Amino acid sequence: MDDFLDLRPSATPVSDAERARRMSDLGFGKVFSEHMVTMRYEGGAWRRAELVPYGPLSLDPASTALHYGQAIFEGFKAYSQPDGGIATFRPEANARRFQASARRLAMAEVPVDRFLASADALIRQDRGWVPREHGQSLYLRPLLIGVDPWLGVKPSSSYLFVLLASPSGAYFAKGMRPVSVWISDDYVRASPGGTGAAKCAGNYAASLVAQAQAAQKGCDQVVWLDAVHRRFVEELGGMNIFFVLSNAGRATLVTPELTGTLLPGVTRDSLLVLGREQGLEVEERLFSVEELGEGLANGRITEVFACGTAAVITPVGSIQSRRGAWAVGGGEPGPVASRLRDALLAIQHGTAPDPHGWMHRVC
Ligand code: COI
Repeated sequence: MDDFLDLRPSATPVSDAERARRMSDLGFGKVFSEHMVTMRYEGGAWRRAELVPYGPLSLDPASTALHYGQAIFEGFKAYSQPDGGIATFRPEANARRFQASARRLAMAEVPVDRFLASADALIRQDRGWVPREHGQSLYLRPLLIGVDPWLGVKPSSSYLFVLLASPSGAYFAKGMRPVSVWISDDYVRASPGGTGAAKCAGNYAASLVAQAQAAQKGCDQVVWLDAVHRRFVEELGGMNIFFVLSNAGRATLVTPELTGTLLPGVTRDSLLVLGREQGLEVEERLFSVEELGEGLANGRITEVFACGTAAVITPVGSIQSRRGAWAVGGGEPGPVASRLRDALLAIQHGTAPDPHGWMHRVC
């Protein structure tokens, strides 16, 4: 389905040596591949897309997104495969969540087939930018913004879709080393009826002051509680959160249920499936700070970890709040988190079977 897309690649390709230099120290989201895809929505229809050299956008300063925040994004990854090919992980799930986010912000929805074909075209064009090492990937970042040049508060009638690609390694400089977290009582991420389940730019902007407060407390990340009771754990930074409870040698994987204020993470969903397959009890339910504090104090909670596309699985080594401070699992990555991470990465890198058909072969 490339018939909606015109290829206009760079006339001055980056040399192999220069690409290797740029990819020598990856981290997350700092290096970008050579091309991007852009596509406009105007007059009630999506126009032809273009694959063009990566570069600055030209925007009217009155554009809706810049003033009223009609801006959503996604994130998914392309992995190099053992035979030298490339495959993406569950891109259709991201395409559908992108549509759900668009509906919540009264924006035009990008058709799933165009979303998927744009990514395939960009990956094929920039396949040299897909890192080969285990744990590294080409992070795809779709973006949608309202671009009507008018200051009235209303949904934009024109939109710009942009798809970028960034060769990436570990999201956190610490890699799999456990992070410390601060439970925020002063700020909430999302409230019932709000935009918590949408991947919109404003959610992330609103999180930054709480993240700064966590840093002041000496912590790496913030933990969010629900807005109504200020009791139930919802997310961790921009990620979903899991707890491992042990009972007479049997491990239960618990994650907050999707109440409408949480982002329905693709990694979250995948870990629930893999956890069941690994013989864990799996529960999606409300999880209070009281249960967290008690479980850490009496040793019933053996692991806490965050998950997301960017960071995959990140163990939590210590938790602080106004109520107290706790160490988790001796500050080391736990066995459940490590096993889940290994299983997920093995599917993504094509070294384990893919019984759920999660991988989408691109080339
Ligand atoms: C992820 O973990 O994939 C996230 O959502 C964080 C991202 C905004 C960088």
